Amino acid sequence: MNIERLRTPALILDKEAFERNIETMRSLLEGSTLSLRPHYKSHKCAEIARMQIASGAIGITCAKLSEAEDLVDAGIEDVLIANQVVEEPKISRLCQLAKDARITVCVDCAENIAALSRAAVAADATLYCLVEYDIGLQRCGVLTHSEVIELARAVDAADRLVFDGVQAYAGQLSHEVDSEKRRSETEARAKDLRALLAELKAAGLGARVLSGGSTGTSAIKAKEGLYTELQAGSYLFMDSTYGELDIPFENSLYILTTVLSVKDGLVVVDAGVKSCGVDQGMPRIYCDEAREISACEEHFQIFEPKKQYKVGDKMLLIPAHCCSTVNLHDKIYMINKGRVVSRIAVSARGCSK
Ligand SMILES: Cc1ncc(COP(=O)(O)O)c(C=O)c1O
Repeated sequence: MNIERLRTPALILDKEAFERNIETMRSLLEGSTLSLRPHYKSHKCAEIARMQIASGAIGITCAKLSEAEDLVDAGIEDVLIANQVVEEPKISRLCQLAKDARITVCVDCAENIAALSRAAVAADATLYCLVEYDIGLQRCGVLTHSEVIELARAVDAADRLVFDGVQAYAGQLSHEVDSEKRRSETEARAKDLRALLAELKAAGLGARVLSGGSTGTSAIKAKEGLYTELQAGSYLFMDSTYGELDIPFENSLYILTTVLSVKDGLVVVDAGVKSCGVDQGMPRIYCDEAREISACEEHFQIFEPKKQYKVGDKMLLIPAHCCSTVNLHDKIYMINKGRVVSRIAVSARGCSK
């Protein structure tokens, strides 16, 4: 089918650009200490997760238990939940999942470690744990080396839990446009992390894993020789926010829209915030520019685009944030040279629990 025949708004993926991004990441990590454990939040498609494993990823990172369940259900054998799971019913589900696959979860408090251990014993399951260290994101994780060591010791001593290492994710640096600042700030954190790993080792708690990193810091991390796992997600699709950075990935994800109305320098298309994530800003128009774009639920209002449009024309938009955009769609149409070549289910769409 020709792309022009798709009902809009439709989320489309340029096959060649997507495959180049997979290859670029593979060659970036070749010969480095880093294995790829890509983040599921960016695509939420079990089919794409399997492609990533087939091209060398050691497992998948995800944010939520329900995403992990989707991945294991699709045959993925090694999953990191890069977050804390604290509610008792979810901890029970986590332990059931750990009977079917190798499940790793982050911890940052002693009570949670005790609860995970109790549930793992009851379920006769083994859970792998990373102690989360907050290196400036101000999200989860403890702030000091001594707290990391104390929690690592607690995991190590807990029945049916395995202390596997540390998660340290500096998300605040991912989108830093100034590449020198992104590099120097990442290096400053690396120095601190090397000291932490040495202290853990001296305490008899060697960390097998150091997990973190993003699309924005992947090239820096590949050279650094410190982290063992890279959690990048957006590198597959990119978006207009990451497009501002000097990183070696290219845009492959678009929203195909139809022009609904044209008047006095205003073009209105049939996609809005219900089909394009705007948490990082307005989308860009592919091969065009506008003075301003604003959003309604089902429409983008495009003010003074440079090109001329008429009602019924198709327009491609580049989302400002690929991850929040994908979560608004049930399927992604894979396109090659203007034709639909496959349709991928967003199997974990809405898996936010
Ligand atoms: C825990 C974690 N790891 C890694 C990432 C990196 O993702 P990306 O490469 O899409 O920036 C994120 C992004 O939010 C994250 O939350």
